[in-house]
Amino acid sequence: MTEKITITDLQTMKERKEKISFLTAYDYPFALLEDRSGIEMILVGDSLGMTVLGYKTTLPVTMQDMLRHAKAVSRAVKRAFLIGDMPYMSYQPSIDIAIKNAGKFLSECQMDAVKLEGGGSSTAKTIEALTKAGIPVMGHIGMTPQYSDCFWGYKVQGKDAKMAKKLIQDAQDLENAGAFSILLECIPAKVAQLIYEKLNILTLGIGSGPHCDGQLLIMHDLIGLFEAFKPKFVKQYINISPLIEEAFKKYHQDIKESKFPEKQHFYHISEEELVKI
Ligand code: KIV
Repeated sequence: MTEKITITDLQTMKERKEKISFLTAYDYPFALLEDRSGIEMILVGDSLGMTVLGYKTTLPVTMQDMLRHAKAVSRAVKRAFLIGDMPYMSYQPSIDIAIKNAGKFLSECQMDAVKLEGGGSSTAKTIEALTKAGIPVMGHIGMTPQYSDCFWGYKVQGKDAKMAKKLIQDAQDLENAGAFSILLECIPAKVAQLIYEKLNILTLGIGSGPHCDGQLLIMHDLIGLFEAFKPKFVKQYINISPLIEEAFKKYHQDIKESKFPEKQHFYHISEEELVKI
């Protein structure tokens, strides 16, 4: 498949039980590599607050931050389905604010859909309104970073029956509200499986086991570019940080020792012109 991936294509993959690859990207060069690698869904996540901007949480991330990064990603991507992550307080204050901000991801950044966090009736109402406005929405339940700091901490959700039942109900409510997919973050694999079996829409998982239509990882975790912490569910495919650090050290040393630039790295003027100066 070389054409742009649509929700219909993703739904067909679900029906065929073909697993979907899903990864975050925040800038042009990495988005280009992900798209070339065949990744099917790309999330411009508000995790960029931590991975790119150096904040301790996602809460300080603004719409302005998100739009800038979403635009950079979409300039690079020809095929992958793109999702813009609604940052903290870009959809919570009112449905009007949510529609206005979500619309910007589509009209200004060429995202194909937006994602917002949380279950419960107020999120369901927002999703219903966005869907009616023609904006495809991915729900996000389980460990939801925008609420984790103040409410329940960065830990697995739904480990007891009461909480697991609530997650299953939330997932059903978000499907009923019109979400085209739902992201399950850090919930027990068996609970994710129950949700997968109950819903008709796509379920994508991060730290929620194998029983989902697709899997998401944060790109910086996958390539070893985020050192603050490493969750259990992360599979690191390459550890790129030491390689990059080594290159920077060599560059630094070369300058100290006048080994850079060499002849091939600078521009020349003919002797004939030089004497005229
Ligand atoms: O912002 C993000 O990358 C996310 C993931 C943590 C799921 O929402």
